[in-house]
Amino acid sequence: MFPNLPDRKPTYSYKWEKYKGQDILPLWVADTEFGCAQPILDGLKSRVDHGILGYTLPSQYTPANEAIVSWCERQYGWSIDADWIVWTPGVVPAFNVASKAFGAGRILVQEPNYPPLRAAPGINDSQRIAIQTVIENGRWTLDFEQLEKEASHPDCHLMILCNPMNPVGSVMTQGELDKIAQICNQNGVLLCSDEIHCDLILEEGVSHIPASSHRELKDNSITLMAASKTFNVAGLGASFAIIPNEEIRRKFNKAAMGIVPWVNILGLVATEIAFTQCDEWREQQLNYLRSNRKFIVDGINDIPGLSVLSPEATFLAWVDASKLDAPSPQAWCEQRGVGPSPGSDFGSKDFFRINFGCSQDMLKEALYRLQKK
Ligand SMILES: Cc1ncc(COP(=O)(O)O)c(C=O)c1O
Repeated sequence: MFPNLPDRKPTYSYKWEKYKGQDILPLWVADTEFGCAQPILDGLKSRVDHGILGYTLPSQYTPANEAIVSWCERQYGWSIDADWIVWTPGVVPAFNVASKAFGAGRILVQEPNYPPLRAAPGINDSQRIAIQTVIENGRWTLDFEQLEKEASHPDCHLMILCNPMNPVGSVMTQGELDKIAQICNQNGVLLCSDEIHCDLILEEGVSHIPASSHRELKDNSITLMAASKTFNVAGLGASFAIIPNEEIRRKFNKAAMGIVPWVNILGLVATEIAFTQCDEWREQQLNYLRSNRKFIVDGINDIPGLSVLSPEATFLAWVDASKLDAPSPQAWCEQRGVGPSPGSDFGSKDFFRINFGCSQDMLKEALYRLQKK
């Protein structure tokens, strides 16, 4: 039955270690409090019971690749070839590899954004050009005028998109992806799309379109995906890039060679099972998250000085605290016993990000604490 909510305190949980010994509810780093689907746990146990955990050559691990191929077909109506898949031990290494291989000069990255995405250009000796995220018709989207202008710079060869957007929670529409495709193609800018949250669409009528499934982007894009967020297996270090174009794939693989380790065997097993045996668990989780989303959005919007738009996807809510009479919104939350992610890490100091992938009781307690005078 969903949700199963194990106690994470004694498990080296990054999320729970931060406020260890303090009465602060950790609602920050983006994993959930939900125990994994039983088929994943059973599959991992039986892999461990096999008794050998040696090197694994993922390209030959056909069932896991087949699982991705059929998942893309079922979820997105997207037919991919198994050999477009490049396994990576995380999405963060993957967008850094893309930056290293293709980013020399200026890299376009939307803002606010997941901190490691903001850091990627600098790590790879490139310059980060922040493309602003703006509210239009009650929804966060990209500043397309700015994107068009910056993409035309002669030193710009790469855009890293985060779609669904973390932290703002929007999912690029067909029209928005069309614009991105047109701008990237016109300017010789490769699109690397981090889609780690794409199987967590909460809004009815919204669907995710993988970048490389776009006809105009097939030969000018890298799509990064994983089962990690949706199925809460992020600690297993397994993700994959889908790269239809052979030359882009070759350059990506070359840049990773000798630096990026092979994918973790247990992560590989978990991904395969997540994509083949866990549909019902995912549905239950999505429904639970929809109800948490409504609860947190209504509750936050009732607090003077705070406001939030309902995210279309993810279990993350991006809270505007600019009208709060407090020098640090993060400190204001922590003083009340709630620990979100600081907006400054994402490039917006007047915001904070709340992870609502937790029990409804925990969320209720967090809101109660924030509502207290
Ligand atoms: C947008 C985005 N990309 C990547 C990651 C992490 O990816 P990985 O753990 O696979 O390196 C996160 C985790 O929060 C994320 O939100």
